[in-house]
Amino acid sequence: MQKSKTVFFCKECGYESGKWLGQCPGCHAWDVFVEEPKQKKTTGSARPKTARNEAISLSMVSADEEERKMTGIQEFDRVLGGGIVMGSLVLVGGDPGIGKSTLLLQVCRELSQKCKVLYVSGEESLKQIKMRADRLGTFGADLLAISETCLETVDELTDQIKPDILVVDSIQTMYREEVASAPGSVSQVRECTSLLLHMAKQKGVTVFIVGHVTKEGTVAGPRMLEHMVDTVLYFEGENTASYRILRAVKNRFGSTNEIGVFEMQNVGLVEVRNPSEYMLRGKPEGEPGSVVAASIEGTRTILVEVQALICKSNFQMPRRTAAGTDYNRVNLLMAVMEKRLGVELSFCDAYINVAGGMKISEPALDLGIVLAILSGYKNLPVDGKVTAFGEIGLTGEVRGVSQAEQRVSEAAKLGYTTCILPFVNMENIKNPAIRLIGIRNVKELLAIMKE
Ligand code: TYD
Ligand code: MG
Repeated sequence: MQKSKTVFFCKECGYESGKWLGQCPGCHAWDVFVEEPKQKKTTGSARPKTARNEAISLSMVSADEEERKMTGIQEFDRVLGGGIVMGSLVLVGGDPGIGKSTLLLQVCRELSQKCKVLYVSGEESLKQIKMRADRLGTFGADLLAISETCLETVDELTDQIKPDILVVDSIQTMYREEVASAPGSVSQVRECTSLLLHMAKQKGVTVFIVGHVTKEGTVAGPRMLEHMVDTVLYFEGENTASYRILRAVKNRFGSTNEIGVFEMQNVGLVEVRNPSEYMLRGKPEGEPGSVVAASIEGTRTILVEVQALICKSNFQMPRRTAAGTDYNRVNLLMAVMEKRLGVELSFCDAYINVAGGMKISEPALDLGIVLAILSGYKNLPVDGKVTAFGEIGLTGEVRGVSQAEQRVSEAAKLGYTTCILPFVNMENIKNPAIRLIGIRNVKELLAIMKE
């Protein structure tokens, strides 16, 4: 019988099977198997030929602080946990066109002043890279670029040039000669990553891999890619807004709570050191239905403006929309207001918007949303120097939230004079720089509104 020349791989975890399967035995995902040409047996290339490895006593291993290099782009260094760890493998994922190549080229520019950098592009010609570089500013001579898709060539080049930093843009365009399938396929992505891993760990090169994200929001190719690398960063943003957020999803050398904020301008990505100021630009003064709420993204406090437009409905089913926050949560909060505060919202259209294009889903935004709706409904403006945060439960109780002190101090720093917050959070805040109004229940909001 003739042997089959193809095998099937799970797109998610890389599980290999001789026949097509509906469900993957490895990760239990459905409909994830793709057919690819069978490889020669010689490619088990996760383990290239090296000197024999020997086990040693852990006490003999010196574990000094890892060597780190600062890129000089503070928002980027922060997300990595305080600079790049030399010899690590970092994956930068994001939607096509979000700005990954731009970000990495800017990082390369900064790094090339301190060490040798090789930028490999499988997507653009050298001319295209140069055109982009010209928009970003001047580049030093220590940044070497090549347009190449064969990873073995890149490996040889790395041996010759011996760069400290290698950028591969993108993993989906790279191929290895010994793997028969097309670039971007499960086996190519897997084998390419294992070669890059080998380059990072054996040769001490710091490798940045760019990966495109699929519709489902994971890096195209096997999930395994994320397991193999030391750090996974996601670069995200809205199509309509110019700000971008860099987020650590996995980090073997730091916290995954960090975010970095950038703005895409015509000169490339510009750091946003104070996201609150950025988000609050253009906030109207003294208008009903606009409230500033203190929310936390990662480890940073970001003040955002919550807007609510409440008007009498002409429809049998009133319209409700929520932009930048959870639609169901808004409906729930409106039901709580209707029941506990007696405001008649069931005949009103309600449009809720978190201005600036940011998406916030933390419950601490509840109080801001309720206050904005109340202000919009009653047509009473909330003082522009007031900010609010707190979670609201179904009985109308205002529940404590985390990092209250941090939120209050950010509000004070930005010149706000009053903060409405959960009563239980009051005791944790020592020496507040601004007036605090602690509330236990949404009913107390009505009294404050009348002030
Ligand atoms: P790019 O880095 O090519 O995205 P990716 O590598 O993630 O696919 O970014 C492309 C977008 O960025 C493109 O739509 C144009 C925009 N851009 C600017 O707005 N200003 C600039 O200076 C540069 C270089 C790009
Ligand atoms: Mg690109």
